[in-house]
Amino acid sequence: MKTQLDYLTTLGIESWQLNGIPKKEILPENSSWEKLREQVAACTTCALHKTRTQTVFGVGNFNAELMLIGEAPGFHEDKQGEPFVGRAGQLLNSMLQSVGFHREQVYIANILKCRPPENRDPQPDEVNCCTPFLQKQIALIQPKLLLAVGRIAAHYLLNTKQSLTRLRGQVYSFGENKTPLLVTFHPAYLLRNPADKGKAFQDLQHVFEMLQ
Ligand code: URA
Repeated sequence: MKTQLDYLTTLGIESWQLNGIPKKEILPENSSWEKLREQVAACTTCALHKTRTQTVFGVGNFNAELMLIGEAPGFHEDKQGEPFVGRAGQLLNSMLQSVGFHREQVYIANILKCRPPENRDPQPDEVNCCTPFLQKQIALIQPKLLLAVGRIAAHYLLNTKQSLTRLRGQVYSFGENKTPLLVTFHPAYLLRNPADKGKAFQDLQHVFEMLQ
């Protein structure tokens, strides 16, 4: 069985260890969730429905304290119907594990529920069509903390175009509930720029500290 240190080593970080936090119970789906899931699965509002294999709703603990928001499904997510299951997803799992979180303990969703062709950036009209679903997911979960994973999620959630470098390291508040929000690098970016993994680890430590 992998230890936290193994995950830190995967991230290229060898000198940190933190205790895990207790897992929260995973709740069964209720009718609001079922209805939302059906609406997403049937959605044909934007053109992406024509090229998708299936919608990618979200995954995790409906009672999560931490909700991660990524960009959009890629090739593997489109095939499997689950967010962050490809190489970027494996790195995301390691990032979570490095501070003692398990993937099953948090909730993971994307800005878009359908894969953009060739994994291109989501277009503004697609974001407009799709984000009411995300808003509803956030409202149902009511997380204690939101983590925007990457530029696209950060730009939508914070309604800004600032660079991710400038957005990292600060606590923002999101929506009517003023949910605290942090920003970190997208794992696909970290796969291309491993030198920034240490900064991502600092972001995850910040997440861990805020949830204590
Ligand atoms: N990248 C994302 O932003 N989300 C996924 O689900 C997969 C890759």
